[in-house]
Amino acid sequence: MAESTQVLSDSAPRRAAGRLISVSNRLPVTVTMENGQVAIKRSSGGLATGLRRVLSGDRGVWIGWPGQLGELSEAQRHRIVRQLADLGTAPVNLSDHEVEIFYEEVSNGVLWPLCHDRIDRLPLRIEGWDVYETVNQRYADAVVDAWQPGDTIWVHDYQLMRVPLLIRRRLPHAKIGFFLHVPFPNPEIFFTLPVRRWLVEGMLGADLIGFHTRRYRGHFTAALRRLFGIEMDVPTSTVAWNERRVTLGIFPMGIDAASFAERAVSRDVNVLTLELKQPASRLLVGIDRLDYSKGIQRRVLALQQLLIDHPEWRERVRLVQVAVPSRGRVGAYKRFRHDVESLISRINGEFATPAWTPIHYIHRAVSPATLVALYRAADVMLVTPVRDGMNLVAKEFAACRSDEDGVLVLSEFAGAVDELTDACIVNPYDIAGVAETIHTALTMSGTERRTRMRRLRAQVFEHDVRRWAEEFLAALAAA
Ligand code: G6P
Repeated sequence: MAESTQVLSDSAPRRAAGRLISVSNRLPVTVTMENGQVAIKRSSGGLATGLRRVLSGDRGVWIGWPGQLGELSEAQRHRIVRQLADLGTAPVNLSDHEVEIFYEEVSNGVLWPLCHDRIDRLPLRIEGWDVYETVNQRYADAVVDAWQPGDTIWVHDYQLMRVPLLIRRRLPHAKIGFFLHVPFPNPEIFFTLPVRRWLVEGMLGADLIGFHTRRYRGHFTAALRRLFGIEMDVPTSTVAWNERRVTLGIFPMGIDAASFAERAVSRDVNVLTLELKQPASRLLVGIDRLDYSKGIQRRVLALQQLLIDHPEWRERVRLVQVAVPSRGRVGAYKRFRHDVESLISRINGEFATPAWTPIHYIHRAVSPATLVALYRAADVMLVTPVRDGMNLVAKEFAACRSDEDGVLVLSEFAGAVDELTDACIVNPYDIAGVAETIHTALTMSGTERRTRMRRLRAQVFEHDVRRWAEEFLAALAAA
């Protein structure tokens, strides 16, 4: 490996068509160990799900963490590394200490709550940035090792905010894009972070910085103004930085709509969908990583309110809430799981009858077929995060509804709301208001449901993940 201070020249002959080097904290596949057997599984989370199809295969290399390989034998480790290489990925390994400090404490204990406006979840001591830098440097080194003249580099998300600058130091002329999949918070919140300047400098190592929405970019430009006194040039969407221009673009991420639609009509999904539908009862569905940003508690409180305000729905409506386990070693997540589960159990205890339970809670990842069957069987899909960068579940739901039925209830604090304006839009903090909107959704006429769903689907199919990636990469090529 070259020394990290060495600057590589990209003046060598360019390849006919440069490759794409994608870099994200987690690979789209995770290596797991179950009963002594090693397996490569799909990672969960919007980024991995959305990008898997677009950025994998022969178009380039994907650099990221495959999960903890610590327990593997030497032979198993070799086999896995070979399999990962065959999948077009290059693993970056993290030690247990790095997982604890970089992934759990800094990325998910500080940056995640901060970007989701939850300064109340910040620890008293905000530290560990030296480890964050060391790990970001390791990702940057892996990029420099893989890079060939003509290649384009695309760095993803809040775990790797320093990587653009760390690559830039060694490859001053490389094309580097950075996309932030989470919200960039209001500067009043962002400025609580002692290392605010250092992180923004890291991002500014890129030629193009992408955000999901105009609002997140607005927060970023406000931060630039306050930190460095620089303004974005509106006609070109660029800022001057260290004798370069950095473009700030808006690219709302989409999903692989065609493949969801295809899976939704497969035979096994047809069978599962029929099993889920109950003639006498209407189905509400919530599907989230078990994360405090997703608004699960207020959502179940809204269901409780519905059962109080509209008792006619008792025994006639049920909520299937899938909560995919996530970041279970981070303190805030452990407490959150406990709080969610006690609340669900309290509401079930209060309203259940021998024949009916209002909330059916599933704490694990469901199979792709079950996921799609839930989307198809739902009368109402509840996507009510208190803050969410984009939220792809809302889009997956629409992609699966070729019957043009089903109602989407969507939080005004999800990035997806800017595009999915035909959803029933709610303020998740207004529990009585959400309850009333669920009632409206359950009693909506078939004509209105169809009109809304048709428009949602047109939006989701037209602006799919392929188009998102193409638009980002075209803007990066032009930057
Ligand atoms: C969100 C983040 C991703 C992250 C995913 C899953 O979608 O934007 O960067 O990978 O959550 O979280 P995890 O911590 O399991 O990678």
